[in-house]
Amino acid sequence: MSSAAKIILVTGGNKGIGYAIVRNLAINYSNSSPSQPLTILLTARNPTLGQNSTEKLNEELKPKNILVNDGGNVDLKYLRMDLTDEQSIKDAKEIIEKDYGGLDVLINNAGMGNAFDINVVRTTFATNFYGTLNVINNLYPLVRPNGRIVNVSSWLGKSHILSDALKQEFAKEDLDMDGLISLLKRFENAVEKDTYIQEGWPPYGVSKVGVSIMSRILGQRADKEGKNIKVFACDPGWVKTDMADQGAETPVYLALDEDVVPKSQNGTFWKDCKAVEW
Ligand SMILES: NC(=O)c1ccc[n+]([C@@H]2O[C@H](COP(=O)([O-])OP(=O)(O)OC[C@H]3O[C@@H](n4cnc5c(N)ncnc54)[C@H](OP(=O)(O)O)[C@@H]3O)[C@@H](O)[C@H]2O)c1
Repeated sequence: MSSAAKIILVTGGNKGIGYAIVRNLAINYSNSSPSQPLTILLTARNPTLGQNSTEKLNEELKPKNILVNDGGNVDLKYLRMDLTDEQSIKDAKEIIEKDYGGLDVLINNAGMGNAFDINVVRTTFATNFYGTLNVINNLYPLVRPNGRIVNVSSWLGKSHILSDALKQEFAKEDLDMDGLISLLKRFENAVEKDTYIQEGWPPYGVSKVGVSIMSRILGQRADKEGKNIKVFACDPGWVKTDMADQGAETPVYLALDEDVVPKSQNGTFWKDCKAVEW
């Protein structure tokens, strides 16, 4: 594929909303009949699952004639990436740099549910927050001007789940990434001591609050550095796996829209293809 192609990477693309995001990116992009080819990098931590899903999508999209092999201009490629394995992120970065020269859109979709005890909290944070941040820290330098980073958060990643005092701390305009990480560490400590309820924390959603606020901090940072890159968080809505297309709608809109999204405030939270209050 020539370096002139638009490159979009989706994490956790082997199933659920991630799979639907890849499929809908391919369909919506070709429907807009662009002359620029598109390469979608479907990433997954398990190579067998990732490759099987890429093949399944190739089969599914065949009748639409939108893939390169069928005469279209969308190419699907599998790339291994485990958010909790930094080497896999670095390996993916090297391949992207060498084969594609950069990234236009990074969609951080991979994530897990929020069951509850300190070990599960740590595992959930390792993927949802630190894993996503690790992917961004590694791939941000590859994102080209006019590029985007779309982070799939959750309705639980919004301020309503927090006490008023905590809400104010997360909402502080000058909160930076270190400040955000120490707030999240406070939650982990409170869970460990079993004082989280008294301290105003909910049992669910805190890692996604981290993802929403991380997006705001990175969006502000991109503006400050004069980088023409937009960073957004979004709620895919409540979706059952077999309804995943619905969940893909806002992430795909944020990745492809060339009308409203480029003019929207950086770092904002989106639901139903609209920016909403965090
Ligand atoms: N479904 C909903 O109602 C809902 C609501 C709000 C927010 N969300 C968010 O939307 C996103 C997708 O959710 P979903 O419902 O599609 O979930 P899902 O069906 O469980 O899919 C999650 C995807 O993330 C991948 N993943 C998990 N840990 C990973 C890691 N360490 N490294 C790389 N990939 C990893 C999974 O890979 P494996 O197959 O290998 O496990 C899978 O591909 C998540 O961020 C979720 O929190 C979903």
